[in-house]
This record gives sequence, C-alpha cells and structure tokens, in this order.
Amino acid sequence: MDQTTAIIDLDLPGPRISRHVYGHFAEHLGRCIYGGFFVGEDSDVPNERGIRTDVVEALRALSIPNLRWPGGCFADDYHWRDGIGPRDQRPRMVNSHWGDVVEDNSFGTHEFMDLCELLGTDAYISGNVGSGSVAEMSEWIEYLTRADDSPMADLRRRNGRDEPWKVPFFGIGNEAWGCGGNLRVEQFASLARQYSTYVRNHAGNEVYRIAAGASDADLHWTEVLMQSFDALDRAEEADAPAGPFQAVSLHYYTMTGPWADKGSATEFSEDEWYLALERAGYMDQLLTRHGQVMDRYDPHRRVGLVVDEWGTWWNVEPGTNPGFLYQQNTLRDALVASVHLDAFHRHAERVVMANIAQTVNVLQAMLLTDPESGALVRTPSYHVFEMNTGHHDADSLDVHLQGVPTRTGEKSELPLVSASASTRGGTALVSLTNLDAQAGRTVVLDLRGRDVVGHSARVLSAPGLATHNTPEAPDAVAPVTLDAVRPHDRGLEVTLPAHSYVTVSLTLA
Ligand code: AHR
Repeated sequence: MDQTTAIIDLDLPGPRISRHVYGHFAEHLGRCIYGGFFVGEDSDVPNERGIRTDVVEALRALSIPNLRWPGGCFADDYHWRDGIGPRDQRPRMVNSHWGDVVEDNSFGTHEFMDLCELLGTDAYISGNVGSGSVAEMSEWIEYLTRADDSPMADLRRRNGRDEPWKVPFFGIGNEAWGCGGNLRVEQFASLARQYSTYVRNHAGNEVYRIAAGASDADLHWTEVLMQSFDALDRAEEADAPAGPFQAVSLHYYTMTGPWADKGSATEFSEDEWYLALERAGYMDQLLTRHGQVMDRYDPHRRVGLVVDEWGTWWNVEPGTNPGFLYQQNTLRDALVASVHLDAFHRHAERVVMANIAQTVNVLQAMLLTDPESGALVRTPSYHVFEMNTGHHDADSLDVHLQGVPTRTGEKSELPLVSASASTRGGTALVSLTNLDAQAGRTVVLDLRGRDVVGHSARVLSAPGLATHNTPEAPDAVAPVTLDAVRPHDRGLEVTLPAHSYVTVSLTLA
C-alpha cells in the first residue's frame, strides 16, 4: 500500500467552521414533508402532533443546526397565509413544480416551527419573491417573531401560539434566475434590496437575510449581487453586518449525466464513481471562484456565502413519481458528502452556511421512509453527518497532504485522498476520505504543535461501491470502530480501506 502524509499544525487554528454548514433542507416535494416528516396525528406511525417521532430522534443525533423550508422552487409559489388556521379550512394549491399534485397546506408555519422546536434546530424560512409581495413577506416575519399586540402577532395568537418564535435566517427568493421568476440578476438585485428592507427585526429577533444566488459557476450573478451592497469596503464598518441583506447563496448539484439522464443512484460503473467524486470536488473550485469575486467587493468578508442547496441528483428510482425526486443513497453518496464537507471546512472564512438537499426521501437524503411499512432507514450520507458532528463550531486546521495519488478525470487530476481537520477545546477531529475504488491507503498523520494523548477512529465503508441501506439491511453501510491506527514517530498511522470514509478523534494535552 502506498503512503500519504497529512501534516497538521494542531496549535494553529484557522477560521471557525460554523455549525450551520451542516444545515438541512425540507421542501414540499414528493415525500419529504408528507410521509417523511409529517404523517398527521391520526397516523399509525408514532408521532408527536403529527410529526414522526423516529425521524426527530434520528435527526437529533445529527444536531442539525438549521432547517430550510418550504422550498426550493416551491417557496416562490407559496403563500404563507394558506398554511395557518384550522387545517380543514386551509386553501389548497397546485404544487406545479413537484408532481403537479394538490397541496392541502396541512403542514404550514405552525407545524414547521413545531418541527424546529422538536429538532432543537434554527428555522431558515425561504420567502416568496417570485409570486409574492413585499407586504406578504413583511407580514410573515411579523407573524413569526413579533411579541406585542401588532396585527400579525394577534393573528398568530388566535391560531394558538402566544410566544413569538425566533427566526434567525430568512431567504429572499430562491433560484431567481429560474423557477423563482426567471429574472435577470440586475432586476433581482433591486428586488433583493427592497424585500430585505421589509424583513424587519422584531422583538429582539435578528434576521440574517440571504439573497437568492448563483447556480454553479455563474460568477456574473454573484458579481452583480455584490455590486448592490452599500460601502462594503469602508474600514470603519468592517465589523458591522452588511446590508440590506447579509449573504448570497449558491446552488450546485452533483450528477454524472446530462439533465435528462443524470445517472442511476445504484447502478454505476467505476468510471461513474470517479466522475461523481470529481464533480463533487468541483465544489471547492466554485467556492474559490465565487469567493474571489466576493473578496473584490467585500475585503472585510462581511457578506456570507450560503450553499443552501447541494448534493447528488440522480434519476428517480424506477417506478416512482418522476416529480418526487426519490433516489437511493449509496456509499458513493456518502463520499460525495464528505468531499463537500471538506471543501466547506477549507472555506470556513466565507462559507457561513450550507444545506444538503434534502433531509427525508428527496435527492441526497439523510433518511428514507418506506411508503408502505413506514420503516425508517438511515442512509450512508446520514452517517457522514453524524461522524462529523465534532466539526460543528470548531476551529479549522489546515491539512497539508503529501504523496496523494491522482487519477486522470474528466477535467482534472482527481486526488484520491480528501481531508480536513478542526480543533475544539482539548480535542481535534481529522476527516479522511479514500476515493480509491480498489486500493486501501496508509496515511501518516504528522501531528505538530500539541501533544496527542489519546485517539480513536471510526470508518464508514462497505463491500461494494453501490452498497446501500434498506429496511431489510438497515446497517449495510454503517460506521464501525477502526482499529488500524498505529503510533508513528510523527504522530499516527492510519490505514484507510478502499472506498472509505474515516474520522480520527484526538485528545490533546
Ligand atoms: O432541491 C430540488 C430543487 O432544486 C429545488 O426546489 C430548487 O431550488 C432546485 O432547482
């Protein structure tokens, strides 16, 4: 087995990795909300006020920091007043993006905020610019967060909720270049300023407003949004929040084929394994390039970059509704996730939040539920998120990799090892991904600057590249203790199995 070295200066912490890069996304799409999160009080599936108990329990283990809702494309069709009040009196609507099904609005604002409370997570509300109005958005934040007897606070109370909620994150539109209105960026930039102005801070609730950003490498979109900020370069305001919005978003999905045939989630060749991982690695380049544009206008890094949609997007599972975006999730998806998370850690100075799409039953889900039996399955991607909870709000550590083999890919030389690290208090966590489909790899952790007095390691792998979890075999891909960690005169020596993800936890003196 070849050797790779990872040099880590444990005493040189870098920018903090916001826990919010471990954010999630729940859209009214297929079986994400209905059947995934919400089954209603009368369901046989155990639930609390209609919300699945097993889903809440599984997600609590991930300490999910924020949940984005109600879309996605759905957000720009959504009128929040349809989702409040007695459920049997709520108006219906057509979910034209996702399956052309009728939405009964039984899951609305109160149900979502209830879900956030059960999960112990922050709400990230995505507001409607495409088909909504400034007044509608303004009243929604008043309804959610105002404490006194204002008209919207009164309405909320009449619907059974006395106390205002906290809403720390608010999206100003979604994919405004596409499903969110097919707008030109110049037009949207003006709207983003206008709408953000009316998403007010009520009752001590401080909102972080995120304007709908670019797709993939559309640097022009980011550039025009950055030009729309006021006085970002003034040194005397370097610590003040940017305004009138505080962040711009970026969406990027990993697929191996064209839009019309994105590739199968479970039936793929070794070449497609590598292609998916190379395209996942492209996220790092995107963050660099969008970050460079942002740096030109915002040298003090007051504006956040929020990757509020990312993940794999495969062809739907055969026999399922093409509009429901239900796909299986294999070991390959897990490694796509770990490669993205490494990139977010490396760009911690600019990337303040990220949301994998989507939490349950849609795209690169954490959890899959069986529509007939109700059985819940944790996906391989779920396990990567769980193994990485030690990176939440930890200080990033540079990892200098040497001796990493590469493979010639579609557009680049694909490094076959990906790594990142962080430290928090008396601990450090090192994440290592071996992208090699066939060969294991020994990595020497050259640990400098602090004494390491204890270690433990876990590994996520499986016999096959496409191994996945099902109700019959729920733990086909699940983390286990990795014993292949040995002392080395530079620190530790870790043997990564072929196609695996490993975390090494260190106790520091
Ligand atoms: O996540 C699925 C969809 O992908 C979202 O609704 C949309 O924003 C994006 O195109």
